Order: sequence, then structure tokens, then C-alpha cells
Amino acid sequence: MLLLRTDPLKPDADVIRFAAEVLKRGGIVAAPTETVYGLFTHAYSDGGCAKVFKAKERPPDNPLIVHVDSVEMAAQIAYIPEEIVDVLRRIWPGPITLVMKSRGAVSRCVTAGLDTVAVRAPAHPIPLAIIKELEAPIAGPSANKAGRPSPTTAEHVVEDLNGEVDVIIDGGPTFFGVESTIIDVTRKPPILLRPGPFTVEELEKYFGPVEIPPVARGLIETDVALAPGMKYKHYAPNTPLVIVHFDLSLAVETLRSKGLKVAVLCATGRCTNADVVIKMGDDLYEVAKNLYRSLRELDRFSVDIGVVPAVEETGIGLAIMNRLRKASGHREAFNLGQLLKYGLA
Ligand code: TXA
Ligand code: MG
Repeated sequence: MLLLRTDPLKPDADVIRFAAEVLKRGGIVAAPTETVYGLFTHAYSDGGCAKVFKAKERPPDNPLIVHVDSVEMAAQIAYIPEEIVDVLRRIWPGPITLVMKSRGAVSRCVTAGLDTVAVRAPAHPIPLAIIKELEAPIAGPSANKAGRPSPTTAEHVVEDLNGEVDVIIDGGPTFFGVESTIIDVTRKPPILLRPGPFTVEELEKYFGPVEIPPVARGLIETDVALAPGMKYKHYAPNTPLVIVHFDLSLAVETLRSKGLKVAVLCATGRCTNADVVIKMGDDLYEVAKNLYRSLRELDRFSVDIGVVPAVEETGIGLAIMNRLRKASGHREAFNLGQLLKYGLA
């Protein structure tokens, strides 16, 4: 395995050429995007795709996102609904993935045999340069082991996939820190499958009204009818985590008075004394950027419980709450009674 460092804004041409060579030969490459690190294969390679699933320990019925450099390249693998071609020209590259009817061009392994394909153009010079060099799309999931938080640094990728990847490109920490927004445009109105940095408020400006099912808010875990990946558990730290909707200091003091060792994940100015304090950030973008690193950190301290304040579900806050609900196994406390139920369970 090779770890290559390069400037995320001016990627080294030799590093890009080398990554493209590895992909051409059916190898797999981890690289940053503007959201999280991805684990990439040539999108037409059955062998490369199989390696991605094996390294990630991903169930074979959970399809990958195909990354393209242009609307033209997307049109080679998906039937783009005519009315959204111009929309895509305006919103790509960016952290927004569209589920569309597949042309059957990419490896069946990539789409897990579905007749739809998820496509996005990443707004990051490294994957864009690799796609251009390869003259083909690259498919990949987040570069974590299945069930672990998505990686936002190359170190996280090494933590999870050391020795199982041909090349890891270290382009520094990713910008947004949460995965792309996914919408299914095969349905009318389009359905939000996963909230992300491209907000619902923005989506509706381009696509009109968008349906937001309870799974997209993270309120329930599974809706196999909407997206195959939803039946799998995600990003759960080993330490129990509770989302607190009331006074955070009161929550922490109460848990500590019961003899529990408590960690607090601070968000948007809501912080308090605890046995361990992990600062995520003062605004929602900072919180998103530091969310997965904070969840990984939580397990490094031997605390009995972690608490995190709820954030407002607007803008990128919808993506944050979706990830927090999954990470907490849907433990949300609106009062002390509920908190104690979780804390003393
Ligand atoms: O920001 C991102 O989207 C990152 C970077 C690397 O691009 N990728 C990412 O991939 O988060 P992954 O595999 O961790 O999540 C992709 C999700 C999965 O939940 C999968 O089930 C869903 O997209 N998906 C892929 N193809 C689909 C399809 N045809 N229909 C419905 N859902 C699909
Ligand atoms: Mg993932």
C-alpha cells in the first residue's frame, strides 16, 4: 500500500497519473472529495469493484456512487431526465448525488444489479483530475469499514483500511465532513434519500418541492423500498450516545450525580463541564466538519456515556441530525426521565 501526499488544490500530476494507472489495472485508490474520503474503482471494472466491497466489508446489495467530471459523462451511464440537464450544469460539481435510471454501462457490481445508478460530480480537484486522466467515471463508497464513521482525513482511512487499498492519496482534511446529499429523481416529486451539504432549501430552488421521508431525517432506520443501503446500521460508536433536547449542563450534572463518567460533544455554542469535552464547533458547518472525527474520538476515552445537544434541522443541520440519530441508535432525550432511562440502561 502506498500513501501519497498532494496539495488538494493543485494536485501533483505524477500522483494523479499513478492513481489512474492503478485504477486502469483494476486496483483501488482512496482519495478525498469535498465531503468525505472515497474508496475508488474504475466504474467499468468488475474486479476493482469486487476489491472495494471486500476491503470495506460492504454487503454486495448496497450499491456505490459513480463519480463523473461532467454532465456529458453522466449521460453516458444514466438517462438524465431532460428537464434537469440544465439544472445539473448549474449545481455540479458539488455535494449532490442523483439516483437516475441506469444505461447499464457501469459494472453490475457497482449498481448491485439495480436498474438505477447514483451519480455525482465531486467538487474536489483530486478526484476530478483522476477522472479526467482516466477518461472514465470512478465508483466508490466512503473509505471506511462498513459500520464505521466516514473518514474525513487520510489517517482515518489508514485506521480502517490499512493494507487493503493499493493507494491512499492524502489531500488533507475534507471540506464538508458529511456525505453528499442524495435525491432520487426517478420519482415525482423527487425524494430526498440522504440529507447532506447541498441543503433542502437549495434543492427546492432547483427541483421544486422535494419529499422528505422520515428515513431522511434519521427518524427511522430502514426503508428498503427507497434505498437498499438504508437497511444497514451506520456510524455507531461503541460508547452509548444520547441527543439532548433540553439544558445540557443539567443533563451532564444529573448523569454525573449517578456516578457516570460523561463526555460531551459541544455544538453551536452549547457546551458544559464534563469528564471529557469534545468541541465540534460554533456553527453548523464546523460541527459537520468535525462530527465524524468527534465520534471516532468518543470511543478513545473510557466514558460511560456521551451526550450531544440537538441542533436545528435547517440547512446542513438536517444532515447533522440524521447522522447523530444513527450514531446514537435513535436515543433522543427531551427530559431528564428519558435521559436517565438511557443513561442507566
Ligand atoms: O459524499 C459522498 O457521497 C461520498 C463520497 C465518497 O462521494 N460517498 C458515499 O458513498 O457516501 P456511500 O457508499 O457511503 O453511500 C452511498 C449511498 C448508500 O447508502 C447507497 O445505498 C446509496 O448511496 N445508493 C447508491 N446507489 C443507489 C441507488 N441506485 N438507489 C438508491 N440508493 C443508492
Ligand atoms: Mg458510507
